[in-house]
Amino acid sequence: PPPETMLGLDEIEEAAKSFLSPRVANYYSASSLDGYSTAENRSAFRKCRLLPRIMKNVNTVAPQTTIFGIPSALPIYVSPSSNALLGHPDGELNITRGAAKTGIVQGISAAASFPLEEILDEKDRMDEAIGEKMGIVYQVYLQKDRSKHEAQVREAVERGCQALLLTVDSNVGDLRQSTEKLKGTTGDIQPGRRMDPFSDPPGYHDPTQEWKDLVKLKELAQGVPIYLKGVCHIDDVRKAKEAGLAGCIFSNHGGRQLDQARTGFDSLRQIYYEDPKLCKEIELYIDGGVRRGTDVLQALAFGARGVGLGRPFLYAQAAYGEQGVIRTVRILENEILNAMRLMSVTKIEEIKPSMVECLQEIWK
Ligand code: FNR
Repeated sequence: PPPETMLGLDEIEEAAKSFLSPRVANYYSASSLDGYSTAENRSAFRKCRLLPRIMKNVNTVAPQTTIFGIPSALPIYVSPSSNALLGHPDGELNITRGAAKTGIVQGISAAASFPLEEILDEKDRMDEAIGEKMGIVYQVYLQKDRSKHEAQVREAVERGCQALLLTVDSNVGDLRQSTEKLKGTTGDIQPGRRMDPFSDPPGYHDPTQEWKDLVKLKELAQGVPIYLKGVCHIDDVRKAKEAGLAGCIFSNHGGRQLDQARTGFDSLRQIYYEDPKLCKEIELYIDGGVRRGTDVLQALAFGARGVGLGRPFLYAQAAYGEQGVIRTVRILENEILNAMRLMSVTKIEEIKPSMVECLQEIWK
């Protein structure tokens, strides 16, 4: 079915899974261990109820904001996810094209299937085509061989990536990968650019990483803002602020790293309750399980500047290439605008915690 007939992100996921090989579908959907965190990423939003206000002129609504300091048409961004090429021959380039055409920010994964250079060449072509600079940020893993990620950071900064997202929830890989290796279910099944997209290359996860490593990264960033991706605990938000970072992304890596790690949305809510002032002093984002405009609004209510989506963009580009990415953004845009109107808010700043009732406060 054509992308215009797709009415929700889950429908696009289903369309992609109807033809993807089981191995690729499994790679995209996989969780670590029992998948508690992945499942809860979705259900976290269902623990809350919206309390719409009424009778306000909502003819004109403005969903625009800035994401990682970059103007964005919507409070959403493409969360960096690896190996888009497994789903479609144009892989990450589909996302670059779709994000540029819809005015949202693309996060490039450190494990993207296309070399950084090729993605940034495509960005330059898109900038020319749309007549302005699209938003693009680069995700970093601190690698055992420091020279590897340092070279990538230098390239990203030199070529105009506007922020760095340092993923800090992956100092070791998850156990699923090594188990699959034992079972022999890994291996390249489509001509890809990475040797074995189903398991991470050696040295990729660095268990020695520490806060002090940020000193060097900041130096390399040359003023480009750094955000920590994969934060859960309030004390780490405080540390990030002390370290002079621009912000934190609450995330459990789509449930692909520590299973049972709290969801990004629940971390945001808990930290908002504990220290609302802190939430205003540093930019906060969440990702994980966001599939509807109402999910986005709930996150904004508790002070998130924006939300990232990972799997939906992988499936969208797999199913329909660039058009799938555009359709995904349009669906979310319609849902966000519709929900804003039904809630009687015309601007993002008007979405307040008092408009969301949470049925379960496990930390109280
Ligand atoms: C990811 N994610 C991820 N994160 C990251 O920082 N670097 C990476 O290379 C990857 N790779 C990756 C591959 C695949 C297949 C998935 C599904 C996810 C995590 C991603 O950025 C994001 O945190 C989650 O995907 C968010 O959850 P949803 O939107 O997929 O539910």
